[in-house]
Amino acid sequence: MKLWGGRFSQGPEEVMKQFNDSFRFDQRLYAADIAGSQAYAQALYMAGYLLEEEKENILSGLAQIKGEFDAGEFVSRPEDEDIHTAVERRLFELIGPAAGKLHTGRSRNDQVAVDLRLYVMAEIDHMLAQLGQVQTALVDKAEAHLDVLMPGFTHLQPAQPVLFSHWLMSYFWMLARDKARLQDARTRTAVSPLGSGALAGNPFGVDRTQMAEALGMPAISMNSLDAVSDRDFVAEALFAFSMIAVHISRLAEDLILFSNPALKFVEIGEGYATGSSLMPQKRNPDSMELARGKSGRVIAALVNLLVVLKGLPSTYNKDLQEDKEALFDSIDNLSLTLSVVAGVVASLQVFPENMAAQLDEGMLATDLADYLVRKGMPFREAHHKVGEVIRYAEIHGVTLSKVPLAAFQAVSPLFKEDVYHTFDFMQAVSKKDSVGGTALSAVKEQIAAAKEMVA
Ligand code: ARG
Repeated sequence: MKLWGGRFSQGPEEVMKQFNDSFRFDQRLYAADIAGSQAYAQALYMAGYLLEEEKENILSGLAQIKGEFDAGEFVSRPEDEDIHTAVERRLFELIGPAAGKLHTGRSRNDQVAVDLRLYVMAEIDHMLAQLGQVQTALVDKAEAHLDVLMPGFTHLQPAQPVLFSHWLMSYFWMLARDKARLQDARTRTAVSPLGSGALAGNPFGVDRTQMAEALGMPAISMNSLDAVSDRDFVAEALFAFSMIAVHISRLAEDLILFSNPALKFVEIGEGYATGSSLMPQKRNPDSMELARGKSGRVIAALVNLLVVLKGLPSTYNKDLQEDKEALFDSIDNLSLTLSVVAGVVASLQVFPENMAAQLDEGMLATDLADYLVRKGMPFREAHHKVGEVIRYAEIHGVTLSKVPLAAFQAVSPLFKEDVYHTFDFMQAVSKKDSVGGTALSAVKEQIAAAKEMVA
């Protein structure tokens, strides 16, 4: 029983079947496909195109098929072209000719569109939960090491001292934006195209709004031509996934750097590192290298889809079948990455003394300029004066705190004995107490806000 064989005298070439069939990958849409069919059967019944008994048989048959898939016991057949065909074929085996009524007024074009939307909605929810786990790991780590000082970098050069907890929390906020992006994308995903038919709409009076509600979709599409070919929601999800991958890749890069033995600010747990087959001393941060590397395929999936979409004429074209594999690959790899990253962050060993060892007084030069500003000097001039002090220190081979008061005062009479209080890293950090700054008080505030957000 083929879905569309009537006008053909010959079956497809074997290579064409291989080329055309999508069951091997789209079977993962089975739960969405069955949910969509259940909603559609109900609508056909309400519209008077199914007898109550036929509807009940269809619903129980679909429930049984779902059970077979859930249990991994669904037996596919070579003629199962895609998930939609497979489910209908099995339904016919279970309940007989009434199965053939389910497709009344429906096309695989609106069917696959609703399936993919339901699938993406569920995956967005899953990704949101996983992001929440990484966020929780970040907050927990930050709270456990609240007042640990570390060198902050710009251009990867020592810049100003910051709190390690502040660095950890910086990734929390990136992921918070990622969650907001996913939630936003979910709104536009949860729009039902069911009842659009192949392209022109549905002639049997099915209640589209009721079907959408049954599927947990608050809205329905307003143009059938658009609805059967709209994959914007996939592109949006793939962009949101790509942005997550980029953030995770940056976190990975930081952790690879910070766990290098030359710095050893942190150590990645043994459960997330690997050894070398040749060099016995090695402990490689493979988990983070893979997290960084996998961002490549996640971004590629987005580009893949956009290129598929860009030249398409109106409505459904088979090119759209190419929307799935890259999406699935993106989801699988990102999801695995997030699980690993949550574990890496949670098991991170922190070495405050190694961070402290990398703090040098040059990182307080800005604070020295701020000292002069507080005494009334314009910042530009103060910047220049501190430059002179630094030159003095370099020429005499001393650190800034060992520059004699006389030398300070030769640069500016505004320097007084209290200038030496500047050379205190924690104090420099405490001064950055604006909202979002690295002062302990400000970090505590952001952690409180963060915890409220994840709660
Ligand atoms: N397997 C197809 C896809 O994923 C389902 C829709 C096919 N529609 C059609 N008219 N051939 O896009």
